[in-house]
Amino acid sequence: MAVTPEARRWEALFAERTRGDVGDGIAFVLGFLGRPDLISFAGGFPDPLTFPRERASALLAEFAAAGEATAFQYTPTRGLAGTIDAVAGRLEALQGHRPADDELVITSGGIEGLELVCKTFLDRGDAVVIEGPTYLGAIMAFRGFEAQLTTVPMDESGLRVDELERLLAGGLRPKLLYTIPDHQNPAGVSLAPERREALVELARRYGFLVVEDVAYRELHFGEDALPSLWSLAPDTVVQAGTTSKTFLPGVRLGWAAGPAEVCEQLVSAKQNTDQCSGALGQRMLEEYIRRGWIDEQLVRSRELYRQKCETLLAALGRHMPAGVDWTRAEGGFFSWLTIPGADGTALAAAAAEQGVGVTPGALFYADGRGGENVRLSFSMVDESLIDEGVARLASLL
Ligand SMILES: Cc1ncc(COP(=O)(O)O)c(C=O)c1O
Repeated sequence: MAVTPEARRWEALFAERTRGDVGDGIAFVLGFLGRPDLISFAGGFPDPLTFPRERASALLAEFAAAGEATAFQYTPTRGLAGTIDAVAGRLEALQGHRPADDELVITSGGIEGLELVCKTFLDRGDAVVIEGPTYLGAIMAFRGFEAQLTTVPMDESGLRVDELERLLAGGLRPKLLYTIPDHQNPAGVSLAPERREALVELARRYGFLVVEDVAYRELHFGEDALPSLWSLAPDTVVQAGTTSKTFLPGVRLGWAAGPAEVCEQLVSAKQNTDQCSGALGQRMLEEYIRRGWIDEQLVRSRELYRQKCETLLAALGRHMPAGVDWTRAEGGFFSWLTIPGADGTALAAAAAEQGVGVTPGALFYADGRGGENVRLSFSMVDESLIDEGVARLASLL
């Protein structure tokens, strides 16, 4: 497309940090992904079948009929007291540790939790450790604050904590380490229990903050989740949670739990972003938790995603040529494919031509790796189309 003189003029004024985040090749591929005819393994969206439409509408009607003002008003920056209490109670029930009222902030989604942490801690050039691969939204958040990113590799047991230790012993001094310990996006693996203990010990020894993203933690297919890093070390971990995958992304709600002094700063940072998360969603979430509805829905959601995952893994086994490898998720939304010798970005473009959406692996690295990978998300694709989608993808290899 031709660049108009106006567009050129604004581009010259854009802040440096907003430029060059997404390469042309990737933008090209992403352009395909909004197509409605695509069998899409691309986006990490929840299946709309999990949305509690009737209960959400009943709650709204109740608030209106009761003449409730709170649900329709601004809220304190930290969140409504009732919502904070309900979320704290849920963390206690699920993770065995209850945050005090000053150790919890209600956020507008998991991504706002990360943004607030960045705003609070990062000056230009500060060192941040991330997993390789990791969530694209987090890479973009850290880049937006001009952090210096160091990538530590992962294996089938999650972050290579031994490798992190080696880097720390060699002089690396990060302010933050960002990790997704449960059913990671995009790798679909979880951090082994002994590595969890070792990681928080390193954080204490070297004085950095662990940012624990638990977006998929509650969506495990089998056994209960492993101990959260925050429950192991609430003194050195901030947990960023979201209800987007377990309730509704339509209300954009999450939480940040961490040391009181850190949470106080997060609240200050939130004062000059959105000032408060929407009251309507907060009241709905509070009731959704208190009435036990979130747990009822979770049982159904886990089963839905488990079934889709099983179908995807079976299809991969059936269709993929020898040499291709993939992770076997035990929760969450993703499987991560490694295709030796492939160009993941070109493959994603070719797959889109064949009516299949996949996400190129390079998007999930900050350092140009991931070329031989693609991410498959099984969360939103129609289960009856999974086998056909994988067969088409395999035919390109
Ligand atoms: C690992 C991870 N963290 C955070 C988020 C964003 O959550 P939210 O929609 O609550 O901002 C996502 C969404 O895809 C995610 O995959």
